[in-house]
Amino acid sequence: MYRSHTCGELRSQHIGQSVTLSGWVQTIRKFGSITFVDIRDRYGITQVVFNPHLNSALDEQPLGREFVIQVTGKVLERTNKNGKIATGDIEIEVEGYKVLNAAQTPPFTVEEETDGGDELRMKYRYLDLRRPSLKRNLELRYKVNRSVRNYLDSAGFWDIETPYLIKSTPEGARDFVVPSRMNQGQFYALPQSPQTFKQLLMVSGYDKYYQVVKCFRDEDLRADRQPEFTQIDCEMSFVEQDDILNTFEGLFKQVFKDIKGIEMSEDFPRMTWEDAMWHYGNDKPDIRFDMQVQNLKTPLRNTEFQFGNYKDGLAFKVFDDAETILAIAVPGCSEYTRKQTDELTDWVKRPQIGMNGLIFVKYNQDGTLKSSADKFFAEETLKGLADVCGAKPGDLILLLAGAEARTRKAMSELRLEMGNRLKLRNPDVYKPLWVVDFPLFDYDEEEKRYVACHHPFTSPKPEHIEWMNDMSKYADIKANAYDMVLNGTEIGGGSIRIFQRDLQEKMFAALGMSKEESQEKFGFLLGAFEYGAPPHGGIALGFDRLCALLGGQETIRDFIAFPKNNAGRDVMLDAPSAIDEKQMKELGLK
Ligand code: AMO
Repeated sequence: MYRSHTCGELRSQHIGQSVTLSGWVQTIRKFGSITFVDIRDRYGITQVVFNPHLNSALDEQPLGREFVIQVTGKVLERTNKNGKIATGDIEIEVEGYKVLNAAQTPPFTVEEETDGGDELRMKYRYLDLRRPSLKRNLELRYKVNRSVRNYLDSAGFWDIETPYLIKSTPEGARDFVVPSRMNQGQFYALPQSPQTFKQLLMVSGYDKYYQVVKCFRDEDLRADRQPEFTQIDCEMSFVEQDDILNTFEGLFKQVFKDIKGIEMSEDFPRMTWEDAMWHYGNDKPDIRFDMQVQNLKTPLRNTEFQFGNYKDGLAFKVFDDAETILAIAVPGCSEYTRKQTDELTDWVKRPQIGMNGLIFVKYNQDGTLKSSADKFFAEETLKGLADVCGAKPGDLILLLAGAEARTRKAMSELRLEMGNRLKLRNPDVYKPLWVVDFPLFDYDEEEKRYVACHHPFTSPKPEHIEWMNDMSKYADIKANAYDMVLNGTEIGGGSIRIFQRDLQEKMFAALGMSKEESQEKFGFLLGAFEYGAPPHGGIALGFDRLCALLGGQETIRDFIAFPKNNAGRDVMLDAPSAIDEKQMKELGLK
């Protein structure tokens, strides 16, 4: 028997009992001839005491940090109670101990706050995972998983596995590919998602499918992206958009109740994609704070504000030449110093943001206005601007001018940055919403063609289907597609699907695929649509992202047991790596 109790279990009711514990040595403290050792396991930490009569034993068989030991002894009441740990009322008076396995000195401290850098901790991930913060994250992940499964199970969904060695599924990233030994010169692709399989399961009549499933995408990594990540993937038959939104809003609310004890009683707001772009500059608005984007000039819709009234007829080329001018009114920042505004200007000029400059108007407490473009504009123009922006005395109005897409994106980033600086993005506040009515197509400037905004299986709004015959209308076609957004992060996305062969063929053609190519790539799906495909739709939630946000963080890495680094490497395994000649030969690779 290795243990009678865990290291997190003993309380004052156990005082007097003889117990055996096993765990890792967290700390060793010597006070004269008495040695205190904290031993740790998944469940907690218990203090054990080596009294003087064990000194010689400790000399002969010393302990060190991270040694795995077993101790037997009596539970005593502690004189100095430790309210910070659950076992803080007791300690174990050691009667005997055994070193089950010695350990080298760990390369960093295995504590809540560690001294190890990122790469070092990833190399020794198994040690890093011993730290309480990571343990809490993985426990949270497990609990979210359980809550999701319980909800979907009681809603009648079946968990059905789908294969990993498949043919490409277009989700907008590059595929990871696997060479086939038995079919030399040919490759499987790893699924970017189980999209086509879940649709086929609907054709097979399975009605409600789900899977907590790995997806693989070869794309540039960011804080909320990993090359392999997990989706809560779902599909339903005989449903309309509302059925799906209601089902998954319910899932989300259940998870929040189970995990955070938060009752979200109100319906999630639904915002059209156009409104999201208009008011927030992006399709995943963080609605924890207001600071909405003001559209002063843009080709997108009619705009209200006209810059005019130039001082001495001095034209301001920055505004006159700009396709788009956007503004935000930042509350309480009118007293920003020159240094602070210069620093913000540098911030928007960084290559990631890519603007040429930043114009600001200070709406002073006394009602006067002061602007970096003072010499061009009469005060009444600036006053008009402040009114249009809904600014109040004390606000700092920030303006960006330039090409539409870039300026809108930059303004959305600037808004988030100001939200961060003003601490308006509180991780303990959760503001979910649905973004609906996405465009069916995006125009890919590089490839000079239309691509699917969500994926090619997404259906157009019925009233826009006829526009599929007219390329000049493509940009206006809206899709039955929706995203779930939480605190500025896209948590999930889905759509009502195309389920008729002719419409699916039309979609492939619109994406520039020849009949042969669509047959070669998606013949199986087109064929299935001829054997009684029901109307269907679904969604996939980013499981890692959901866990990170529930844990109050935006980076998903520490919610995954064994993640990759920013270069897509597993630092611990040292993967990817070269393979040997023999393997290459077997696979027919050069
Ligand atoms: P989509 O591509 O929008 O939809 O993906 C769904 C959700 O998965 C998460 N996600 C990621 N999380 C971590 N790392 C990544 N690299 C990554 N990429 C995506 C996001 C995203 O919202 N088959 C469709 C779903 C459907 O139509 O039903 C799909 O995969 O949170």
